[in-house]
Amino acid sequence: MVKKLGILTSGGDCAGLNAVLRAATHRAHNLGWQVIGIRNGTMGFLKKPYETVDLKPSTLEAGLLRLGGTILGTTNHGNPFAFPMPDGTQKDRSHEIIEAFRALGLDALIGVGGDGSHAILRQLAQQGNIPYVAIPKTIDNDVGATEFSIGFSTAVDVATEALDRLQPTAASHDRVMVLEVMGRDAGHIALAAGIAGGADIILIPEISYSLSGIKRKIQKVAENGRNFSLVVVAEAVKSESGKPITIYDPTGRIRYGGIGHYLADRITEETGAESRFMVLGHVQRGGQPGAFDRLLATAYGVKAVDLVDSGKFDRMVIWRNRNVIDVSIEEAISHYHSVDPKDALVKTAQGLGVYIGDHF
Ligand code: F6P
Repeated sequence: MVKKLGILTSGGDCAGLNAVLRAATHRAHNLGWQVIGIRNGTMGFLKKPYETVDLKPSTLEAGLLRLGGTILGTTNHGNPFAFPMPDGTQKDRSHEIIEAFRALGLDALIGVGGDGSHAILRQLAQQGNIPYVAIPKTIDNDVGATEFSIGFSTAVDVATEALDRLQPTAASHDRVMVLEVMGRDAGHIALAAGIAGGADIILIPEISYSLSGIKRKIQKVAENGRNFSLVVVAEAVKSESGKPITIYDPTGRIRYGGIGHYLADRITEETGAESRFMVLGHVQRGGQPGAFDRLLATAYGVKAVDLVDSGKFDRMVIWRNRNVIDVSIEEAISHYHSVDPKDALVKTAQGLGVYIGDHF
């Protein structure tokens, strides 16, 4: 009997998700498995009829490796253990997902998500005895055990290109340009793109800063004969006094956003320099995956299916020292992967004279 593998993408989208679907489908079919894609994270399990897609090598688009987003759809709402109901209450719908997994005749499940998604999917797997394998994806690169999550590299490329485009306009107008990038509570995108894009100032949530430190750096750049400065700031960086800067969407949910605007205004007040800010936002998640994300996604997709085929479950595939290995999901998500202030890239930035904060 042909075995059936379910696969879903969960949480915020990023570049490289379709490349994983392609790789996992090819590998699974080569090993004699049928692959069923579940639409919109676990939501596809909750719809009647179930929302699924038969993933076959013959029907996969030729361009899937290159395509941004996820052909399955995804969601970062709808935790099945506390599912938001129309009347504002929350309901535990986990048993419905387990029933759907059985009704679809699935033998195993692969989830592509961040640490939040994997914590939920693992809980479901344990409750329903579902053989489960996890693949890490998130532009934030904050999944504990892995050096790289799918989507991070492309987000860094996009943020670097933004700096490449901001630099000539900053130079033409003698301005300080502040670029606000995503990353949730981690500063990985800001740090990597800031170095790759030649920023003078890089601010990340893991290292505190002062406006006087920023002022000193901007004045030094000017004294050295350069008429502009580039600043990269991660979205979760707080005000100088430690106040979170967030905005509310119309549904009342808190979102990051606003630190770029805050800093541009403070820089003008402190230094007299004309400044502008840009919030890069979701362009960091969309678009074609770069070469490294395609490579990572493909290696993860193949390895995850190999784990399924060999009956090894409750594992996450990760990248460590240029190897794709697997670790227990519990270990993989047990700690948050933020930027270590002693990280080699922090030292690189400091060595260059980039202002990256005061307190280490
Ligand atoms: O976790 C990925 C991420 O893009 C964060 O960097 C960002 O804070 C958040 O998702 C944005 O979420 P949403 O797509 O719900 O606005």
